[in-house]
Amino acid sequence: MGIITSYGEGFTLDFVARSLARTVLHPGLTSILAIIAGSNHPALGPVTNKIASIFPHYRLALYLTAGTGLAIWGNNVLNKWSTNNWIRDPTWDFNKEIVLVTGGSGGIGASIISHLLAKNITTTIVVIDYVPLNWTPPDGSRVYYYQCDLSNPDQVRDVSALVKSQVGHPTVLINNAGLLRGNTLLEGGYEDTSLTIRTNLTAPFLLLKEFLPAMVANNHGHIVNIGSMSAAVAWPRLADYGATKAGLATLTEALRYELSICYGAPRVRVSIARFGFVRTAMVQGEVGMNHFLFPFQHVDSVGERLADVVASGYAENVYLPGTMRYVSSLVSGGPEWLQQFLIGRSAREATIVFKSTNRQQIDPKTGFLAK
Ligand SMILES: *[C@@H]1O[C@H](CO)[C@@H](O)[C@H](O)[C@H]1NC(C)=O
Ligand SMILES: *[C@@H]1O[C@H](CO)[C@@H](O)[C@H](O)[C@H]1NC(C)=O
Repeated sequence: MGIITSYGEGFTLDFVARSLARTVLHPGLTSILAIIAGSNHPALGPVTNKIASIFPHYRLALYLTAGTGLAIWGNNVLNKWSTNNWIRDPTWDFNKEIVLVTGGSGGIGASIISHLLAKNITTTIVVIDYVPLNWTPPDGSRVYYYQCDLSNPDQVRDVSALVKSQVGHPTVLINNAGLLRGNTLLEGGYEDTSLTIRTNLTAPFLLLKEFLPAMVANNHGHIVNIGSMSAAVAWPRLADYGATKAGLATLTEALRYELSICYGAPRVRVSIARFGFVRTAMVQGEVGMNHFLFPFQHVDSVGERLADVVASGYAENVYLPGTMRYVSSLVSGGPEWLQQFLIGRSAREATIVFKSTNRQQIDPKTGFLAK
């Protein structure tokens, strides 16, 4: 990923944080400077005296910066390895991986796929979606498309059997498909609520039952769950959506423990991506929050980042913007009045529209998606 996001979010807190991490807070750079400054080497006398005459406390500042940089770096290293059971998986091979993306016909799913194929065209891609592919697979790619209403368990079972027999056992499962009705709790019928939950939460559970066993048997694989900040930060009109995302977060954690404790497959990775608002066909308008703090993200910023995670072979808890990692713990762990004030005010000012034209129609008789 470029230093500044290549897709036009521009100058944001996230950009500042990433720039600092690569420069002033880079642990290698600042530690070396701190060691040199602390060494009191006579040859440096003229230089250090000169600096001291301008910044009397430069040594203390340098030590604090180096300490902060080292602490952040150490925290990141511990996070990475604990999330990956302290074990490498050297067997990633683009040519052999089968990457299944639910909801890969457009939006975030399609963006992840295009960035994966840009890395290596030999990766086999399986798209499961209700709507047809809205992109053309590039020449030389191996892309399979299966139509399926993920809210329907019978269809999930059938399509999974087809994928296994016609393509093979997926080594990467990206649970991305989802519906967002954008209703308040009182709007919509029984079927709106139930369809959102079946598609966004039940389907990932069922797909795990289908595809996890082969990953466990080979001790190789990667589950990527697409979560959302709406799991941690409640938002009006997103109660059902946010609840499914919170469910996915719980699933992610439990699955990680099960892999090492119950299945003896510590090399199978489980990642979760928690996004703030991403501009897709489904979500238009303005968030009503400060752009510097909470940018409306481009779908390719998100897609590129996730393709990087998949290709790295390591699981990660991805927050986008990255600063959301700290914002979400502040909001959920901070004082309740502060949360009410910040979120309530933003939600009142938001002009965000969840486009009903892009909604799937539901058949009121069956409660499944209309043909
Ligand atoms: C794609 O992956 C295959 C198999 O791992 C490898 O041989 C090939 O060099 C890769 N191609 C690129 C462009 O990286
Ligand atoms: C739930 O629905 C929304 C809207 O389609 C989607 O953006 C999100 O990815 C879905 N969640 C899951 C887990 O599929």
